[in-house]
Amino acid sequence: MRVLVIGSGGREHALAWALSKSPSVSELYVMPGNPGTLSLGENIGIDPMNFGAVLEFCQRIRMDLVVVGPENPLANGIADYLRAKGISVFGPGEMAAKLEASKAFAKQFMSRHGIPHPRFEVFQDPIKAKEYVNKTPGPWVIKADGLALGKGVLVTGDRSEALRVLSNMMSGKILQGAGRRVVIEECLSGYEVTAMALVDGERFHMLPVAKDHKRLLDGDEGPMTGGMGAISPVPPLSPEDVRSIEKDVFEKVLRGLQEEDLDYRGVLYAGLMITREGPKVLEFNVRFGDPEAQCVLPRLEGDLAAVFLEVARGRMNDVPLTVRPEASTTVVMASRGYPGEYEKGFVISGIEDALALENVLVFQAGTMPLGGASPVSSLGAESKSPLKGASGKAGEKHPGSPVPVKTWGGRVLSVTALGADLEESRRRAYEACSLIRFDGAYYRKDIGKIGL
Ligand SMILES: Nc1ncnc2c1ncn2[C@@H]1O[C@H](COP(=O)(O)OP(=O)(O)O)[C@@H](O)[C@H]1O
Ligand SMILES: [Mg+2]
Repeated sequence: MRVLVIGSGGREHALAWALSKSPSVSELYVMPGNPGTLSLGENIGIDPMNFGAVLEFCQRIRMDLVVVGPENPLANGIADYLRAKGISVFGPGEMAAKLEASKAFAKQFMSRHGIPHPRFEVFQDPIKAKEYVNKTPGPWVIKADGLALGKGVLVTGDRSEALRVLSNMMSGKILQGAGRRVVIEECLSGYEVTAMALVDGERFHMLPVAKDHKRLLDGDEGPMTGGMGAISPVPPLSPEDVRSIEKDVFEKVLRGLQEEDLDYRGVLYAGLMITREGPKVLEFNVRFGDPEAQCVLPRLEGDLAAVFLEVARGRMNDVPLTVRPEASTTVVMASRGYPGEYEKGFVISGIEDALALENVLVFQAGTMPLGGASPVSSLGAESKSPLKGASGKAGEKHPGSPVPVKTWGGRVLSVTALGADLEESRRRAYEACSLIRFDGAYYRKDIGKIGL
C-alpha cells in the first residue's frame, strides 16, 4: 500500500522507519519529512497545513493511508477533511482532537466519564482566576487551555509567580492567546508515565508503557523541554497499575467517545501521574508522544501499516503486533542552549558509527543536509515507488543518514537502543551518543535512572 506520514520530527522519522518495515507498504512518503526520512521513502515539500495541497497529492498518488504525526493538523481537522474525500487517515477528527487542543474540554470529558484526574477549575475571567490563587494554598498547576507546544503549563509554589503568569497568559501577552482560558488543577505527586493505545472507535489496544524525561538537566532539574529521553518498560509500574490504566482510563475514554459520538481513529496518549491512589490523567494527546514514539515503536513487531489501516477504517481486528521482550532507552541529543536560544549549523559526525552498533537506531529531527535546505521532491509530481535509498529489504534498513547533516533545531537527534534489560539498553544508547559529535551537543546522562 501507499502510505504518507505527515510531520518532520523524530517521532515521524520513527513512524516512517517502523512503517517502512511493514511488508504491506510498497511506497512511503513523508510530508515534509527530514534528512533522516530520505533513506526510507520520499520527502514531499508540501506544508501539511495546506489541506487542499495535501488532498491533491494524496489523490494523485492514490494514497491508501495517511498517518498524521503532529497535533496541529489534527486539531485543525485534517482527518475529517481527507476522510470526506475517501482517504483513510490514522488520526482523530477535529472534535475528538479537542482532547488535546483544549485542556478544559479534556478535564471536563474526564469528569463526565469518571476517568481519574486531579481536581480542577476552569477560568475565563482573570479576576476570578487570581482570586482563586489568592485564596487557595499552593502549589498551583496552571495550564493554558489551548495548544502551546509544551510551554503552556506552570507548576509553582510561588504565589506571585502564579499570579504573574496567569496575567500574562490570560491577557494573551504570551502563548498567542492559547491561555485566555486556563485550567488550574490540584498538584499531584507520584511519578509520571505515558500510556498510549491504538483506538479504532470500538476497541483499544494498549502499547507498551513508557516514561518521558521532560526536564533539561540531570536529576529532573532545569526547565521543561519537549522531552530529553524516554524508557520502556517502566519498572515500578505494577500489573495493578496497568490494569487500572486499561479499565479506569482507556475503557472509560472509549465509552465516553462513543457516548459523545466523537470520531476517534488513531493513537491516544494519556499522560499519567501514578499516585498513591492509582493512576490519574494529567493530559491527553491525540497522537504519539515525542520521544516516546522513538522509544516504543522499536519494541513493536508486526505489520504496523496493516494495523494502522484497520484503525483508520474503524475496524481493528486481532492486532497482530507483538512486543519485543527487550527494553528500550531513547536519549535526545540537543543543541546547547535549548530550550532557549541556541546556535545551529554545526556539522554532525558519527551517525553511521552509532548505527553500526547492534540494536541502535538514530532518528533525526533538528537536522539539515550540509548543502542547505532539506531536499524534497517538488510536489512528488512523478513519484513512483519511493522505497529506495538503503539497500536490502525494507526490514533491514537503518533509519540512517543518507546525506551528511548539520544541526538545525533544538532537539537534534533521538538515539534509541534496545537491550536485554533497561541497564543494557541504557549502556548501548549512551555508547551510541558518545560516537555522535557536534559542537554544543548536549544530552542528559541519567535517562532511565531517575525517579524509578
Ligand atoms: N496536576 C498536576 N500535578 C502535578 N504536576 C503536573 C500536573 N499537571 C501537569 N503537571 C506537570 O506539568 C507537565 C506538563 O503538563 P501537561 O498537562 O502534560 O501539559 P503539556 O504536556 O501540554 O505541557 C507534566 O508532565 C507534569 O510534569
Ligand atoms: Mg505533557
